[in-house]
Amino acid sequence: MQNKVAVVTGGASGIGRAVAEKLNELGCKVVIADFNPETGNAAAEAIGATFIQADLSDAEQCRSLIEQTAKLHGSVDILVNNAGFQHISPIEDFPVDQWNKLLAVMLTAPFLLMRYSWPMMKQNRWGRVINIASVHAMVASPFKAGYISAKHGVIGLTKTAALEGGEFGITVNAICPAYVRTPLVENQIADQARTRGIKEDQVVTDVMLKNAAIKKLIEPEEVANLVAFLASDLASSITGSSMTIDSGWTAQ
Ligand SMILES: NC(=O)c1ccc[n+]([C@@H]2O[C@H](COP(=O)([O-])OP(=O)(O)OC[C@H]3O[C@@H](n4cnc5c(N)ncnc54)[C@H](O)[C@@H]3O)[C@@H](O)[C@H]2O)c1
Repeated sequence: MQNKVAVVTGGASGIGRAVAEKLNELGCKVVIADFNPETGNAAAEAIGATFIQADLSDAEQCRSLIEQTAKLHGSVDILVNNAGFQHISPIEDFPVDQWNKLLAVMLTAPFLLMRYSWPMMKQNRWGRVINIASVHAMVASPFKAGYISAKHGVIGLTKTAALEGGEFGITVNAICPAYVRTPLVENQIADQARTRGIKEDQVVTDVMLKNAAIKKLIEPEEVANLVAFLASDLASSITGSSMTIDSGWTAQ
């Protein structure tokens, strides 16, 4: 993967940061794209990557991110669509603006970034798109209508793009983790406790790990290792797949 150009969205924190670090270790030229300039710049500096600020809910900023990367490094070889957030609310109270934003960041942005990177990957006859979906791309839980709808959508996008990319050496896959120890998870413990009327420590044991055969939160590095494998030539025949890292959640 020496000198491959990798764009990692949401690379300032959590899973994205671990992915950026891993791809950098493997010799990629990594661009961290995030809307948070403080954490984005700090992560890029610590890792030795480049930071480009982008709010991926904005279509124009998605286009500009790919253009800036191509100008800087000449191409986009690996695209990791990872940026995301969560909103917890029953459907009857679900804010429409949150619904629109969840779909914009976690479904439309992956489509746009892929659309703008595609001609370069096609020309190079090599490309990797890895969409960080979720176990919630396969099964549902209450109070997460926007998140779960966006994540299910990204599986359809993954399969369609995989079919179109095959003849050009472009693979497109999704990774579906259960609960990973990141700020996104830590921040939703209080929200879940309030919405469900339970204590915060019960959220981890009774909600987050309820369906897991292995009763522990997953570490971001475990997801980063699978990204690295899917981005490598070892995975050149794997495309259109949705791989779980879910501690056995969907085995039942
Ligand atoms: N943590 C988990 O348990 C878990 C499980 C399954 C899937 N995921 C998915 O993994 C991905 C990363 O999650 P995480 O847990 O590392 O979260 P995180 O909150 O630690 O990191 C998410 C990053 O995305 C960035 N981001 C959010 N909205 C953005 C926008 N509009 N434009 C640009 N950047 C934006 C944030 O600034 C942040 O740096 C998400 O897509 C999430 O749905 C996480």
